[in-house]
Amino acid sequence: RSCRRRALGGLIEAIRMTTQDDQKRAAAREAAKLVEPGMRLGLGTGSTIAHFLDALAERVKTENIDHACVATSVTTERRAAELGIKVTALDGVLDLAVDGADEVEFGSLHLIKGLGGALLREKQIAESSHRFVVIADQGKLVSRLGERSKLPVEIVNFAVARTLARIGELGLLAEPRKQANGKAFISDNGNVIADCVLPGRIDAVALDRALKSIAGVVETGLFTAGCDCAIIGYDDGSTRCF
Ligand code: 5RP
Repeated sequence: RSCRRRALGGLIEAIRMTTQDDQKRAAAREAAKLVEPGMRLGLGTGSTIAHFLDALAERVKTENIDHACVATSVTTERRAAELGIKVTALDGVLDLAVDGADEVEFGSLHLIKGLGGALLREKQIAESSHRFVVIADQGKLVSRLGERSKLPVEIVNFAVARTLARIGELGLLAEPRKQANGKAFISDNGNVIADCVLPGRIDAVALDRALKSIAGVVETGLFTAGCDCAIIGYDDGSTRCF
């Protein structure tokens, strides 16, 4: 009987536990509540943002919210257009930008972004916005950057081996990103992405500066200005804002 009770307990727990995708959706739905009529919005890239687009589209449709959005990638631009969200070019200041992240450092709220390859436009839009909100599942919270993710660095598609070697001199192990078919991954801006293993705990500000002093490096996935707020979805279905 105790065996049956344990099994039943496990089943109830499994039902209560949410998937990573549920956590992303919960964070996205919270962020969608921040949108107010007339806002100019920045739209990030990735699977968490896909949920934000759905939630935003729902609000736009049901509440007829006046809005104008700028997308951080061609993928987001297409999806937003399909959902009836108005997308324009980046021109001037945005009220609110919402984006996902690969890592959110607990405390500093420094970020690693760019696993989706959109880091350059993502940083441009984050910098152009009065308010930058990150949405993520609880697995993205880390105690130090580089704990679970590589650092994406966007580099020009010229003398790639030289740029990778220069990045290596900073103690990072850098490899050009490849697509599943083995071909080089090229960003929306026509550049290569170098995925870099970080050497333990880093000074994010100093590393970002050092990487950007290398000729050939366009931008890094280190967001050292952090974010105004990180909305994290948890496995018990709740969300918390840091
Ligand atoms: C894309 C990004 C994404 O925000 C990041 O990769 C998180 O993606 P996901 O929401 O799919 O976990 O930086 O360049």
